[in-house]
Amino acid sequence: MNEMNEMNLTNQKPSLNGRRPLPRIDSNHSGNDDQSGPHGKGLIEFHEETAEFFLHSGLATYGLQVLEHGHLSHLYWGASLASQDLRGTLVPRGRAFSPNPIPGDSNFSLDSTPLEYPAYGNSDFRSPAIEIFSPETGSRILDLRYAGHRMVKGKPRLENLPATCAESPSEAETLIVMLRDASLKVVVELSYTAFAHHPVITRSARIVNESGASLALARALSCSLDFSSHFSSFHFTHLHGSWAREMHAATSPLHPGTQSIESRRGASSHAHNPFFALTELNAHEEYGAAYGFGLVYSGNFLASVELDPYGTARAQIGLNPFDFSWTLEPGESFQTPEAVLVFSNEGLGGMSRAFHRFYRQHLIPKTWSDRPRPIALNIWEATYYDFDSKKVEEIATSAAGLGVELLIVDDGWFGRRDDETTSLGDWVAHERKLPNGLVDLANRVRNQGLEFGLWFEPEMVCVDSDLYRAHPDWCLHVPTHPRTEGRTQLILDLSRPEVCEEIYRRISGVLQSAPISYVKWDMNRSMTEIGSAGRLPARQQETAHRYILGLYGLLERFREEFPAILFEGCSGGGGRFDPGILHYMPQIWASDNSDAIARLRIQYGASLAYPLSAISAHVSIVPNHQVGRITSLSTRAHVAFTGAFGYELDASKLSSEEQDEVRGQIRLYKQLRNLLTSGDLYRLRSPFQGNEAAWIVVSADQTEALATHVTILAEANPRPLRLRLRGLNADCTYRINEETTPLRGDFLMQIGLPVPEPSGDFISHQWLLQRV
Ligand code: DGJ
Repeated sequence: MNEMNEMNLTNQKPSLNGRRPLPRIDSNHSGNDDQSGPHGKGLIEFHEETAEFFLHSGLATYGLQVLEHGHLSHLYWGASLASQDLRGTLVPRGRAFSPNPIPGDSNFSLDSTPLEYPAYGNSDFRSPAIEIFSPETGSRILDLRYAGHRMVKGKPRLENLPATCAESPSEAETLIVMLRDASLKVVVELSYTAFAHHPVITRSARIVNESGASLALARALSCSLDFSSHFSSFHFTHLHGSWAREMHAATSPLHPGTQSIESRRGASSHAHNPFFALTELNAHEEYGAAYGFGLVYSGNFLASVELDPYGTARAQIGLNPFDFSWTLEPGESFQTPEAVLVFSNEGLGGMSRAFHRFYRQHLIPKTWSDRPRPIALNIWEATYYDFDSKKVEEIATSAAGLGVELLIVDDGWFGRRDDETTSLGDWVAHERKLPNGLVDLANRVRNQGLEFGLWFEPEMVCVDSDLYRAHPDWCLHVPTHPRTEGRTQLILDLSRPEVCEEIYRRISGVLQSAPISYVKWDMNRSMTEIGSAGRLPARQQETAHRYILGLYGLLERFREEFPAILFEGCSGGGGRFDPGILHYMPQIWASDNSDAIARLRIQYGASLAYPLSAISAHVSIVPNHQVGRITSLSTRAHVAFTGAFGYELDASKLSSEEQDEVRGQIRLYKQLRNLLTSGDLYRLRSPFQGNEAAWIVVSADQTEALATHVTILAEANPRPLRLRLRGLNADCTYRINEETTPLRGDFLMQIGLPVPEPSGDFISHQWLLQRV
C-alpha cells in the first residue's frame, strides 16, 4: 500500500455514528457521473454519510457497509433496491457467549454481525474466509478493518487466473475495498464487480503481506456473505455425481450447522461441481428468489453454507483450505480465484438463464460467444484404440456424406498407444496406425470436406513412455512414498515451469505440424501424492494450486497462439466441467455416458449453471456402451441437440435408413443451431422428479423456439399429458412443425401442447415453433 493509503489508515477512521467521512483512497473512481445504474446513478454508489456501498447489477442490488469500528458488514443482496440508508436492518444485539471485541460495547460481537470477509480469532466463531499464521509470532488472529476503497470503471484482470471480463468500461464497474490487520500488517483487497446488463456480482480477494516477516496463508476463500435470519428457510441445490453420472442436481433444506461440497481430487471433479444455489423456501423453477454461486476455478474447491444458531446463513466458496498452505514473503500477494454471484427473482430457471448469458458473453473465449459449433463426429466409441489412417478415412467419407463438419480422432494416434497402458507424453504419430504421419491423416479427412480434430491428454505421462524415462521426477510425487497410478498413468508436475514449457513445446509442435482445427484436451485421473520435486518441503502444500496456475498458464498460451482452434475440455467426461476451463475452452465433453436417458439428468444438471453451447453431447450407437440401453435414433438426437451437437459412432456402419435419418437430423440442426447456441433455456419437466424430461429453447427475439419432451418409461393407461411452454411472446402466434393452424403464445404457455401417448419406452417429441 502506498504512503497516502497509510495516511488514510492512520488519520481517518470510518465512523457510522460520528458521520466522519470515509477516505476515498483512489480518485480513479467510476461511476456516479455515468448514469448507468437502474436508479439513474452509477452501477456503484457510495454514501459517505452512512459508509454504505450499493452495487446495482442488472436487476439486482448488493449492499455493504463499513461499521463504526471499521468492520465490513454485509447489508443486502437481492432484487433491485433504490439505495437508501439500510442501517436499521442491522440491529446489534448482545448474545451470551458471543464476546465483545470493542471495549465497552456489550451489544457488539462479530459472532452476530453479518460480515463480508470474516476472519478467525476475535469473536466470530463461524467459518472464516481467511486464516493466516505468523511463524514469527505464532499468531493466527486477524482483525480486519476498513482501510480505504477505490472504484474503477470496467473490470481489472486477475493476475494469472481466468476470470470473467468486461470488454468496455461501460459494461461494468469495480469496487475495491481494502481491509487491514494493523498488527500483522496484512491487507485484504476485496474486489466486487457489478455488471450493467447482468444480475451478476463477481468477487475475489487479494491478500498482501506488508509486514517484514513471512506469513503462512492457510485459507483464502473467494467470497463469503451472511444472509440474515429470514433466509434460514432456504434450500441448497448442488450438482454431484461420479464418472459417467455427472452433475446430478440435489436439493435439500438448510439445517443448523454446515452443508458443504468440495473437491480434494486436484480437479473440480465428477463428485461435486463448483456451483451451488440457494432458493427461497417456496421458490420454484420459474419464480421466487434464487441465488447462484459459481467459482472460476478448476482445482480443489470448497463451497459451504453454515446456518448459525440465530438463523444467519453464511455462504462461502473458494479454494479448498484442505491440504493448502501458501507462504507469503514480505511484499508478496496472493490472488484468490473469482466467485460469480447471480441473483434472480425468477427461480432457478431465471438464475440459469442469467448464468448462461453471462458466461457466453463474459467468460468463454470471445470468438465463440454465440457462435454455433461445427457438427462433430468423434471416433472414440466407433473404434477405441483400433484404427488406422484407412479406417479413419472410411469413417470420414461416410460422415461427410451425412453432413458432418468435423472429424475427431481420439485417443490412440500416438507413440505405441494400443491400449491405456502406454505412451502418454510421447506426442508423435503411431507408426503402425499412421505410417505416413499426421499430415497424411489430416489430409485424408480434409479431402472429404471435413475439418480435422485431434485428442490430447497433455497433463499426463505413462511410466512406459520416453518422456517418463527421460524425466522420472517430472510427475507429481513425494519421495517417501510409491507413486500411485490411475488408469496406468501419472500426472505431470504442472507446478513446475520447465514441465509446462516442455508440454507446450511438444503439443504446439504437433498443432503447427498439421491442419488441426479442433483439440480435445482430456485429463483422466485424480491427483494423489501431490508433491513436487521443484519445491522446498515447507512449501509442498502450494503444489495443488500451483499446478492449476501452471495449467492456466498453458491454456492461455494455447488460446493466444492458436485462436482459430476450437478447444474442447474433457476429464473422463465432466470431471473438470467448471468456469475456469470454460474461460479457455468454450465447450466441455459433459460425460463419457452417451446414453440419451442418462444424459437427460446429466445435461439437465449441467444446465443449472452452464450454457447449452458449453455442454458437448453426441449421438452414439445402441445398445449403449455404458448402460446397455436401446433408445431410438431420434430420441438420441433430440437429447443431444441440447448441447454442442455431434456423433460418436462409425458412420460407415449405419444402415441406409439410419443414414437418411442422420442426414435429416443434421439438416435440422444446421437450421436450428443459432437458436440452440444462443437461445434462452426454460426447463419444463425435471428428470429428477418423475418419468419425464422437457425443455424449450427460445430465441432472444421470441420468433423461434424448439421444445422437447421425453417420456422415460411407458405406462399402461396413462393420464393425458400436456406440455405448457414458457418464454414465448404471449401475444404472438406460432406455427408448430408442419401444422397448418398456428397457436398463440398465451395458449401455448397456459394450456400447452398435447403430448402424444407414448407407445414404448424412451419416446421423445420435438416441436419447432416459428412466429407467424
Ligand atoms: C476419456 C474421455 O472422456 C473419452 O471421451 C475418451 O476421449 C477417452 N478418455 C480416451 O482415452
